[in-house]
Amino acid sequence: MIKVQDIAFAEFSVPDLDKQEAFLTDFGMVKVERTEDRLYMRGRGKYPYLNVTHKGEPGFKAVAMVAGSAADLDTIAGHSDATSGVEDIDGPGGGKRVRLKSPDGFEFQVIHGIEEADEMSIREPLAINYARSKNRQGTFQRPDLVPCEILRLGHCVFKVADADAMAVWLNDTLGMMKTDRLHIPDDANQTLGTFMHVDRGDDFSDHHSIFIINAPDDVKIHHTSYETQDPDAVFIGNHAMEKGGWNQEWGVGRHVLGSQVFDYWRDPWGHMFEHYADGDLVNQQHQPLDYPATPENLSQWGPTVTETFFD
Ligand SMILES: [Fe+2]
Repeated sequence: MIKVQDIAFAEFSVPDLDKQEAFLTDFGMVKVERTEDRLYMRGRGKYPYLNVTHKGEPGFKAVAMVAGSAADLDTIAGHSDATSGVEDIDGPGGGKRVRLKSPDGFEFQVIHGIEEADEMSIREPLAINYARSKNRQGTFQRPDLVPCEILRLGHCVFKVADADAMAVWLNDTLGMMKTDRLHIPDDANQTLGTFMHVDRGDDFSDHHSIFIINAPDDVKIHHTSYETQDPDAVFIGNHAMEKGGWNQEWGVGRHVLGSQVFDYWRDPWGHMFEHYADGDLVNQQHQPLDYPATPENLSQWGPTVTETFFD
């Protein structure tokens, strides 16, 4: 079994790349490369791109998980769900990948050897004047009102036919571990969703890199989520997106499972993109916990969840 170590990028297709470039730019990504039929957008971290948009019918195409070694690609290429051998990636930074099909037909790519990009600067974390701890004396809080600075892809969420089966597949195939589980409030045996993290042993990783929601009648991507510097960056991003006239779905609030300060926006074709900051980290000492899927376990604070959030 391999153990993927990170999540790197997601691929979508949309009919109008100009429009998607405008959306992703206001969302906080930076253009890397644009051809007739493909758009690469990056964050400010080490990956050369976080989002690949192909010209075509609107839809999700793939998510890429980072292998621990080149040898892992050879191993995973032998998996019965592999739909390719080890192949070259045609994109900035090159690298190799193996494509897999999940039980619901989602493409997971396992990647290795993409050349890292030079990291871009980001605003320093704000010094906060807490009630009893004044960290900012004689200086003023004036962060620039620019599009949210995104660092990286943090997680990808899918609605699947059988969340329990998908959790097993993510563990068996990619070595991902269960973080927390949500169940139907009046039936603890029925899974509503499972959060999965990449296994780095004693080293910490995000509370979830993949979250799967049980939705047998509506299998599809739910959202992708991108990390920003701090909660102020999420609110500044909200301001920039509102000024850009884009459609907000839900936010700003703070989740319970994962603890992220969140804000969700729809691209022009309805794909949901999330800004987040201050997410939880876990390692192999973490004991998976079980929660009823109530509104109280969805967000600690923030607006009431929208009726269309789970669409
Ligand atoms: Fe999320």
